[in-house]
Amino acid sequence: MCGIVGYIGHREAYPIIIKGLKRLEYRGYDSAGLVLYDGKDLKLCKTKGKVSDLEEKVAKEISTEGHIGFGHTRWATHGVPNDVNSHPHFSNSGKLAIVHNGIIENYEPLKKELIKRGYVFHSDTDTEVLINLIEDVQKTDNLKLGKAVQVALNQVVGAYAIVVFDVNKPDELVCARLGSPLAIGIGEDEYFVASDASPFIEFTSNAIYLEDEEMAIIRLNKPMKVRKIKDDSLVDPYVQELQMNLEQIEKGGYEHFMLKEIYEQPNVIKDTYRGRLLANKGIIQMSGVEDNLEKFTNAKRILIIACGTSWHAGLVAEYVIEEFARIPVEVEYASEFRYRNPIINKDDVVIAISQSGETADTLAAIKLAKENGAFVFGVCNVVGSSISRETDAGAYTHAGPEIGVASTKAFTTQITILTLIALRLAKAKGTMNQSDYQRYLLELEMIPEKVQEALQTNDVAKQIAEIYKDVPNALYLGRGFNFPVALEGALKLKEISYIHAEGYPAAEMKHGPIALIDEQMPVIVIAPNKGHYDKVVSNIQEIKSRSGKIIAVVTKGDTQVKALADHVIEIPETSEALTPLLTTIPLQLLSYHIAVLRGCNVDQPRNLAKSVTVE
Ligand code: AGP
Ligand code: GLU
Repeated sequence: MCGIVGYIGHREAYPIIIKGLKRLEYRGYDSAGLVLYDGKDLKLCKTKGKVSDLEEKVAKEISTEGHIGFGHTRWATHGVPNDVNSHPHFSNSGKLAIVHNGIIENYEPLKKELIKRGYVFHSDTDTEVLINLIEDVQKTDNLKLGKAVQVALNQVVGAYAIVVFDVNKPDELVCARLGSPLAIGIGEDEYFVASDASPFIEFTSNAIYLEDEEMAIIRLNKPMKVRKIKDDSLVDPYVQELQMNLEQIEKGGYEHFMLKEIYEQPNVIKDTYRGRLLANKGIIQMSGVEDNLEKFTNAKRILIIACGTSWHAGLVAEYVIEEFARIPVEVEYASEFRYRNPIINKDDVVIAISQSGETADTLAAIKLAKENGAFVFGVCNVVGSSISRETDAGAYTHAGPEIGVASTKAFTTQITILTLIALRLAKAKGTMNQSDYQRYLLELEMIPEKVQEALQTNDVAKQIAEIYKDVPNALYLGRGFNFPVALEGALKLKEISYIHAEGYPAAEMKHGPIALIDEQMPVIVIAPNKGHYDKVVSNIQEIKSRSGKIIAVVTKGDTQVKALADHVIEIPETSEALTPLLTTIPLQLLSYHIAVLRGCNVDQPRNLAKSVTVE
């Protein structure tokens, strides 16, 4: 996720770009930059930090004249946030400039080849590789920019939204997209390009949204040309008449960031395994794991430390890693671990999970583990965050900025990373046969489309929410891999609707909580047709015999639980170990709708902060 804003037309470009970047900051930023062309010079200014830092730097460093230019707020994926890694990036000749939103998966082999051909690189980003690939193609084949971009993109694997400029063709911007959004605003003798319409909504309501594998060549005073990148065929784009206001645009048309982020999960799970899961080749490749594989496979124990939802993801990982790789796993609340004088061995591997990468308790627990000689691996969502810098190695979730305080897409992308690690370790330790390994890789690759299908339970979840929105309490039950999902579902309901909710292992009911059951108590039971399904059915019968209200999350086509439960929410089938990635979806939607119906502040619930940087 990041923000792109470009302009070409009769106005001064700078005010449009800088104001547009501010409007896109919700998409995440760790640095910002822009280029302006004034007919003579291509002026670059970029900096780590916020758009306001960029504004200050521009005022000191460059003149802001120019009717063409573009800017970028970065959400780093390759290369820590710093000035050099900020966008825009220039080609070696200094003639080409690019801003990019997305991930170039095959940037390493492309970079190696370009270095062989004499190119030098100043940043650690995948983006700088792309602009030099475009330059190399342009020079080698003597092509105009548009054609060079097209040829280069046909060599690229990954996701991108890009704007490219050639100082030798200063009346033109070339844009392209695959997997990351790009909108083009069409004004009177002027064009706007942006990650969404918020930067240009006051200038024009006529916009086109590039489709995947489309590119646009924008020239002043000429009709814009949209082409298919693959075969250069012309496209007749649909020009939309935008009706949304600014706030609606920032939320992608959703009422809340939380709902937007729930619906982003298919894409961000795919972004998280992009370049790491090559299912057809039976390959999982994560440099942080590969470089430390022996530490993992020789570990006598894996300690997972985290807080809140990240702790729940760690619990899922306990079941998955032990099932797949047969390495003992212990999951600890970071806040407890740091103070209880824990036993930490040098051959322990510690996995620290944190969306924000700034949670104080988790950071302190990491430091304690390192002081005792343990190897610490981080799973973070914010590149360059404190935890990502403190850990010995790591893997980033590519969930993009999570604005809603209630964590949703972070949870499923954390589980994705942890499942990849578990499978990789199983392969290395030989604890899983090849056919099962291959089956899991293919099943994991299909998860985004199954999450997409699970999102279709939204209407059912809303109907159920209308019935139970005023209950004072709720119970969530799950077994095995879905016990942590029961805890997570309860946390979601608690933190955004303020209804008291508890998660339990389903079998634990008879050890006390069953005393709570009556017709006022909704019990959400996670009951996929896997594992100890028959035991869960018995638990449901126990609840039913005490007049409990049962809301069951079941595998599509289930009849047994359907005959018992008051409400069922059907999700697609998948391997038992992967069910948490699907069962959590209706629970996110249910808690969201209950909170909305209760008039709660869904994105900023009372008493909570997005990142708990205090003890
Ligand atoms: C989850 O919805 C909450 N926002 C909270 O429990 C959160 O997961 C916890 O504070 C940990 O945050 P982190 O992942 O950024 O470390
Ligand atoms: N992958 C590019 C980088 O890390 C772009 C990241 C983004 O989308 O902001 O610089």
